[in-house]
Amino acid sequence: MAKLTALQIEKIADEMETKSAQEILKWALDTFGSRIGLASSFGAEDVVVIDMMVKINKDKTKVFTLDTGRLNQETYDVMDAIRSKYGIKLDVYFPEQKEVEDMVRTRGMNLMYDSVENRKLCCEIRKVHPLNRALSSLDGWITGLRRQQASTRATTKKVELDASHGGIVKVNPLADWTEDMVWDYIHKNNVPYNKLHDAGFPSIGCEPCTRAIKPGEDPRAGRWWWEDAAQKECGLHFDPTKGKLTAKNAH
Ligand code: ADX
Ligand code: SF4
Repeated sequence: MAKLTALQIEKIADEMETKSAQEILKWALDTFGSRIGLASSFGAEDVVVIDMMVKINKDKTKVFTLDTGRLNQETYDVMDAIRSKYGIKLDVYFPEQKEVEDMVRTRGMNLMYDSVENRKLCCEIRKVHPLNRALSSLDGWITGLRRQQASTRATTKKVELDASHGGIVKVNPLADWTEDMVWDYIHKNNVPYNKLHDAGFPSIGCEPCTRAIKPGEDPRAGRWWWEDAAQKECGLHFDPTKGKLTAKNAH
């Protein structure tokens, strides 16, 4: 199936709002086959989506991940656990060697702590450019985004037009799920998960930029914890056409 037009995506988006996560994933796999892939950081939401996709259609299940080169060992462990439990291949996208080499030569290995500009450059080179490369050969992508994760995500639709990536479709089957629903699914279905979740990490990114949170803290408080809330955005899900980041919409 070829790429959908913006109008087609908008029409389907309205129909999909009332559907379950599995119904949405079935529609996505039937419509796009391996022209759509899950972007997975192997956090709790993503492993739920992988389990669902494999159960719906293992042959069409495509999972890709952006390996920034700065991930935790526990993240590599869950990647291997997923590979062996489900018998699927994972497409791993690395940053461009030359870009990383230039960046660390001029700004150092731990540049992210020196300034917001440096931190954003690191995210751009290690995450955003590889994402663009992964999406350039796809007609759509699937994510584990949930509305409750952050104020910026509150209006996330289950199916969206992704204007920042050439008008492809973005599918967020768990958009209306709560954190409890995610963990119920993981336990009931015996899904492998990142062991850092048991150590107080609700949201897991790169090792230098993620830490455990205290009970009662915002679930994303452990991400880029040294930065002002208004700056906490890595560029994977931010659409610059939707306006500037403010303290209210930043994550
Ligand atoms: S982030 O923008 O702050 O890093 P978050 O960690 O909440 O995002 O993850 C939200 C969704 O973005 C995940 O469910 C997944 O679909 C995608 N994602 C985040 N990090 C990666 C990664 N390293 N590789 C692939 N997909 C990712
Ligand atoms: Fe670099 Fe931190 Fe962004 Fe990872 S999260 S790409 S280490 S700045």
